[in-house]
Amino acid sequence: PSLGSLLVSSLAKLGMPSAFLEPLSNLINAGENYPKIPEAKGAISAIRSEAFFIPLYELFLTYGGIFRLTFGPKSFLIVSDPIIAKHILKDNAKAYSKGILAEILEFVMGTGLIPADGEVWRVRRRVIVPALHLKYVAAMIGLFGEATDRLCKKLDAAAYNGEDVEMESLFSRLTLDIIGKSVFNYDFDSLTTDNGIVEAVYTVLREAEDRSVSPIPTWEIPIWKDISPRQKKVNEALKLINTTLDDLIAICKRMVDEEDVQFNEEYMNESDPSILHFLLASGDNVSSKQLRDDLMTMLIAGHETTAAVLTWTFYLLSKEPEIMSKLQNEVDAVLGDRFPTMEDMKKLKYTTRVINESLRLYPQPPVLIRRSIDDDVLDKYPIKRGEDLFISVWNLHRSPTHWVDADKFNPERWPLDGPNPNESNQNFSYLPFGGGPRKCVGDMFASFEAIVAVAMLVRRFNFQMALGAPPVKMTTGATIHTTEGLNMTVTRRMKPPIVPTLETQNLGSSVNITEADPV
Ligand code: HEM
Repeated sequence: PSLGSLLVSSLAKLGMPSAFLEPLSNLINAGENYPKIPEAKGAISAIRSEAFFIPLYELFLTYGGIFRLTFGPKSFLIVSDPIIAKHILKDNAKAYSKGILAEILEFVMGTGLIPADGEVWRVRRRVIVPALHLKYVAAMIGLFGEATDRLCKKLDAAAYNGEDVEMESLFSRLTLDIIGKSVFNYDFDSLTTDNGIVEAVYTVLREAEDRSVSPIPTWEIPIWKDISPRQKKVNEALKLINTTLDDLIAICKRMVDEEDVQFNEEYMNESDPSILHFLLASGDNVSSKQLRDDLMTMLIAGHETTAAVLTWTFYLLSKEPEIMSKLQNEVDAVLGDRFPTMEDMKKLKYTTRVINESLRLYPQPPVLIRRSIDDDVLDKYPIKRGEDLFISVWNLHRSPTHWVDADKFNPERWPLDGPNPNESNQNFSYLPFGGGPRKCVGDMFASFEAIVAVAMLVRRFNFQMALGAPPVKMTTGATIHTTEGLNMTVTRRMKPPIVPTLETQNLGSSVNITEADPV
């Protein structure tokens, strides 16, 4: 950095008000002849009003792949360009931290893997990634099937009684049941019952989401945070979750102590294949607070995201009967009356494309948050350390320069025999699971979970938007929610005849089909 910019940043650190700093900085920068990042003005009221990534899309069309959004003393850089996104997330990832995100999520995730930075992140990532090995994910496919079957039973009853169903909350419960069992071997059983712990999880989740969109951090005001009934409720919920997690850790520790552990890369305890069990058996030498933070992080990361993917996939499918029937044909042919297995994940190609495309149109989360911890150059623009950045995945995924008919739900845009689209083969124009060193650790887990759920549900039911249901609009927390739920009418499909082909017969003999789907 030049002497001039050093002077400005030192003055900023000493608390010099921006009213003085800005003209000074402009004066110095004018001398240095740096290009200035385009600045979007007068857009703040729009940002507050709705799902904030929508006005950011309009601004992207006006101002381009990087622009600055200023409100009061705060300013954000909005990135919608794949080359800049790749630079931040991958090529120069070490110059960025999680910034505001870590501050907002601290109360619930502590230094768990999502908010963690620096050495804590490096150490924990190295320990956690191996826990999601292929054998583990394959074992989870059975669990995905059982949980989805419970949801099918619920929908059966609704279909029989002619009642409409609110699918968004059911998907949230489905994925909560799955993630509890697979991360720490806990059965929330939220599809069947409402209990204190389920309510506590939702209290904490809603709080995290509210904090991420709230302009004023009331929860930081010293006395308020102790007397506000809402904060009290949040604290009680956190206490309950923490005690439950501590109990689960203790139970699991006892199991591991009694086990004759032969630990290797593909270690898995058959009666408890959870990530927690893997971590403890691996001899992970970590404080119980850190372990709890990591478990809590995975609970949240793996729950709302997948639920949102399912919600928007079914919304999209309800608008496109042709795509739905093509999907149903594939599932009928590949699965018949069986529960899905690992083998099927390769065969359910169109199902996978439907989910790829749903993740393009409704990325979860719609923006990634970073803060520069070093000076850097983005495109032709020098930036200082301490800048808060939003990488709009929404904009990348709907950019008119990168996609033909960007807003159209068109799974056919990905050829069935082509590679599974990801950030690398799409040059960061498509990043459903992020990219670079902080890429999602649960990408395969989540993809298979969504494939199993979609396949089993569309095999058994037809889904339509309920008559008189409110229009489906978006709102944001960490993921994209509907404003008033996804109300659908669910009807049982007439069971199509299953004509055994040579292929399905072979498949039947080579894979476990003991759990017949009681269609
Ligand atoms: C990170 C998406 C499911 C665990 C991420 C990131 C994205 C993402 C975009 C990168 C965030 C960033 O760079 O700021 C998704 C989607 C999912 C999903 C769309 C479902 C469809 C899961 C599941 C788990 C999980 C099931 C756990 C089992 C994590 C963790 C990180 C992460 C721990 C942080 C990784 C790190 O910072 O090193 N996810 N995720 N996610 N995800 Fe997922």
